[in-house]
Amino acid sequence: MIDGSQSMLRIELPDKRRRSLGAPLAARELADAPPPYPYGWFAVAFSGELRPGRLMTRTFMNREIVLFRTAAGTARAAEAYCPHLGAHLGHGGTVVGEELRCPFHGFRYAVSGRCSYSPYGAPPPAARLGLLELRELCGVLMVWHGPAGEEPWEIEPPEDQSRWRPLRTKRMRLHSHPQEVTENSVDFGHFSVLHGFRDARIVEPLSVDGPRLRTSYAFTRPFPVIGGIGTEIHIRVDGLGFSVVELSVKAGWSIRQLVLTTPTGVRDVDVFVGTSVRSRARGPIGKATLTPLEMLIERGVLRMVVVELLRDRQIWDHKKYLGKPAIAAGDGPIAAYRTWARQFYPEETPR
Ligand code: FES
Ligand SMILES: [Fe+2]
Repeated sequence: MIDGSQSMLRIELPDKRRRSLGAPLAARELADAPPPYPYGWFAVAFSGELRPGRLMTRTFMNREIVLFRTAAGTARAAEAYCPHLGAHLGHGGTVVGEELRCPFHGFRYAVSGRCSYSPYGAPPPAARLGLLELRELCGVLMVWHGPAGEEPWEIEPPEDQSRWRPLRTKRMRLHSHPQEVTENSVDFGHFSVLHGFRDARIVEPLSVDGPRLRTSYAFTRPFPVIGGIGTEIHIRVDGLGFSVVELSVKAGWSIRQLVLTTPTGVRDVDVFVGTSVRSRARGPIGKATLTPLEMLIERGVLRMVVVELLRDRQIWDHKKYLGKPAIAAGDGPIAAYRTWARQFYPEETPR
């Protein structure tokens, strides 16, 4: 009797209906897609978000981590769970001076990860906070994801760090993958078709050196009223998670734009977008006159970058990764890019 009523409750979908429910995701996750969590440095927060004394939780490579900054300004990234009895440090944990305090039993952790205090006397030696490698550059906090025991390589920061204004920022959630987002910078063919850029040409062909990739393009970006702005872009990519694009526009401004992609789950990414202008303001009068203009440019460029990403999103939301694409002559160096990108996966991964 019971068996009979249970079988009555089971809903049998016709074959056709079952296929259509799973089809969009399955199509995007076919076996030739790269693994979801490549090795490298990936953004977890903008520097301005993590003020001294703050603690925050972020999703990183399909798990939760915490970020905190001490009163003196030292930033750290750590596994979310306290090594004592597993409390989530991002839920009730606090920064106390130079230490992180767990809300469950009050253990405290120094920035070295060592447990510096336990209310029961000597802290257990095994109580060590699981720290992750963290770097802060160009206004962003980057966390390392790599094979166990392997020393991370370092991001090469742009040479000229002076006079860049603080980043204007936005964070977006997209269905994509860091390799796909970065491939966008070398996919020459889509610039005109999807983004409407005109007269695109390569200024410096793609060059690679270990985890670094560099290239430069020039094109005219459509712009209301004046029709278009001549732009030269210099692309600096260090792994699949860090990329700085420096633009020079004909009016003489240098603009930096960051589009940093961090996996949070399979085909889910956080994209950290930031723009900054290299300030031309000198002295009090220069600052009073130019700073509002510089802020306006940053805001305008940020909006443009977001609009372009939304155009890409229409494709990324539905496309699938082809391991053997039918590359055409006008595509740009996509094949060379993919060969370079293989280094960010375990060796046995055929990509
Ligand atoms: S779980 Fe953190 S102090 Fe006990
Ligand atoms: Fe694009």
